[in-house]
Amino acid sequence: MKTLFETTQIGSMTLKNRLWRSATWMKMADDKGHLTPRLEQIYLDLAQGGVGTIITGYAFILEQEQPNPGMLGIYDDTFIPEYRAFTQKIKAEGANIIMQIVYGGSATDFKPESREIWGPSAVPHPLFKVVPTEMTHEHIKTVVSAFAQGARRAKAAGFDGVQIHGAHTYLLSQFLSPYYNRRQDEYGGSIENRSRIIYETLEAVRAEVGPDYPVFIKMHCSDEWDDRGLSVEESLYVAKELEKRGITGIEFSGGNLDAKNHPNMGPMRGGILKAPHQSYFAEKTAHIARHLTVPVISVGGHRTPEKLENILNTSPIDYFSMARPLLSEPGLINRWHRGNREKPRCVACNKCWGKNGNVCILDRAAR
Ligand SMILES: Cc1cc2nc3c(=O)[nH]c(=O)nc-3n(C[C@H](O)[C@H](O)[C@H](O)COP(=O)(O)O)c2cc1C
Repeated sequence: MKTLFETTQIGSMTLKNRLWRSATWMKMADDKGHLTPRLEQIYLDLAQGGVGTIITGYAFILEQEQPNPGMLGIYDDTFIPEYRAFTQKIKAEGANIIMQIVYGGSATDFKPESREIWGPSAVPHPLFKVVPTEMTHEHIKTVVSAFAQGARRAKAAGFDGVQIHGAHTYLLSQFLSPYYNRRQDEYGGSIENRSRIIYETLEAVRAEVGPDYPVFIKMHCSDEWDDRGLSVEESLYVAKELEKRGITGIEFSGGNLDAKNHPNMGPMRGGILKAPHQSYFAEKTAHIARHLTVPVISVGGHRTPEKLENILNTSPIDYFSMARPLLSEPGLINRWHRGNREKPRCVACNKCWGKNGNVCILDRAAR
C-alpha cells in the first residue's frame, strides 16, 4: 500500500512526500521579473507548510515575451545569483524547488499591442482574441534556444529541476492542438509534426543541462475539445516519445480555453466540492500513465487525501500537484500530515486573481 507521505526518489531528487505545488503565477515579481520579499515569503510559507516539491510560477525566457505581469523572469544570466540565494533558502526547509519556464504567445491580455506575438498559425485565441504572427523557422529556433538557456540558468541557480510549460494554450501546447496549429510544413499536420518543436526543445535543454538533470514537462492529457484539440491518444503518443527522448517526468493537466462554447472545461474548474467532481484529469492521466515508465504527476482539482490515496493505489499515478488549495492554505500539507483531514479552505471559486497579487479572496486584507 503506497502512502502520500512516504519518501520517494526521482533520479537524484529525493521527495519527502508525493504532494507538489503546481506552478502558480503569483503576480508578485517586479516589473523586470525579479523576486520581491513578498514573493519569496510565499515560497517559504509553502516549503514550511510541508509541500514536498514546489514548482515556481511560470518564468519568461525572452525579455520581450511576458504573457502576464508580475511573473518571474529567467531571460538573462543576471538572475542566477538572486535565484541561487532563493533556492538555498527553500531547500533549507526540506522542499525541492523546480522552475517552470514558458514561452507565452497569444494566451495573453498583457499589453499584446506592445510586442509581436508569435504562434504556430495566425488564428485567434478563443479567450483572449489575440491573433499571433505565424512563426518562421528562425522564430522556432529562437524559442527553442531560449528554453535551453532558461534551463541552463535554472540549473546554475540551484533549482532541483526545470519544467517546460507545454500546457494551457501557451506556445508549445498550441503547436500540439489542430485548432491553433494549421501549418503545412514539418511543424504542422500529423501529431508527429505538431510535437516536433517540443522534442527539439527537450533536446536543446538536455544539451545544456546534461542527461541527468531533472527536466519535466507540463502538458495536457487531452484538450477535451472535439477534433480541434489534442486527444488522449495523441497525448499518449507525445508522452511516449518524450520518455524515449529523456524526459524525467510528466505532469498532466488538460482542458481548453474556449470558455464561450465549453464553459468550465479549462484547467481550473469550479464545482468540485464533491469528491466525484474532483481530480478531474486523473482518469485520462491514469490511462496514459499505464503506458509510461517515467513518473507521472496529476494536477487538476485534487482536494481530499482519501481520494488521492485511492488513485495512488489503483493507478500508475505517482504524484499529485495542487495550485488553488495551496494558494489559499500554504500549510495544507502539514495539516493533512498531522491527521487533520478536514476539507481545504479553497472552494474553487476561481477568484484568486487580485490587482496586486494572486491571493485567496478570503484573504481580502492582503489584496
Ligand atoms: C492564480 C493561478 C496561477 C496559475 N499559474 C500557473 C502557471 O504559472 N503555470 C501553470 O502551468 N499553471 C498555472 N496555473 C494552473 C495550476 O497550476 C493548475 O494546473 C490548476 O489551477 C488546477 O489545479 P488546482 O485545482 O489544484 O488549482 C495557475 C492557477 C492559478 C489559480
